[in-house]
Amino acid sequence: MIIGKKILRFNSIESTNDYIKKNSTSLEEGIIVLSKIQTSGRGRSNHEWMSEEGNLYFSFLLKGYISRSKIFELLSKVSVAVIKLLKDFNINSKIKYPNDILIEDKKICGILIESYGALEIDYVVVGIGINVNQMNFKELSEKAISIKGVLGFEVDIEQVLKKFIEHYNLLEDIPFANLFNDYLEYSLIIGKRIDFNGKPYLIKGISDSGKLIIENDNQTKYISLNEISIKDLY
Ligand code: BTN
Repeated sequence: MIIGKKILRFNSIESTNDYIKKNSTSLEEGIIVLSKIQTSGRGRSNHEWMSEEGNLYFSFLLKGYISRSKIFELLSKVSVAVIKLLKDFNINSKIKYPNDILIEDKKICGILIESYGALEIDYVVVGIGINVNQMNFKELSEKAISIKGVLGFEVDIEQVLKKFIEHYNLLEDIPFANLFNDYLEYSLIIGKRIDFNGKPYLIKGISDSGKLIIENDNQTKYISLNEISIKDLY
């Protein structure tokens, strides 16, 4: 599905994800909702997503055809599109599984994918926050960075969005296997160590369904995201 043919712009909104959720039936598929600030921006695990003016906050809507097993494909596609748009600004970034985009351990982009529906998925909201011109991250200053923070000059937020849309739409035509190779290539965590159930493991890879492949002398395990905390890598 091509996104961004239509873009709704707000100066201030609670959360672009919540706006789409509330209006999912009347909004057309592929629509992008963007806001200059968010008063209740949300991250994963019920975290707040600080959303002061100067960064890019947007969401887009996909309807119907996505099966639950395809959510990881969507996540990979969005992650790779962000990596590519940052490359256009001469910035090399990495993916911290499952979906944080980092530059040298500092987060530049977060992705929040929410799906709704009873048995089947009725619709999916993909929310993306990219730090563009923010310079002071306060208590998060060790953990966050912006495009301006890397380049040293202001960047047009609309230009960043335009590049995202271009890359995302180009990836529509790429088979998942190829896209997934890119996802792995940019992935930060492969080769790192992690403790699972009190035992140390090596992260060997990520499966194409989004499971982490971990290994020790005795066994190989496929574990899903909610079984592990990615904070504890070493
Ligand atoms: C995360 O890393 O925890 C995900 C952060 C996602 C933030 C974006 S900003 C636009 C959209 N609206 C929200 O309320 N959240 C997402």
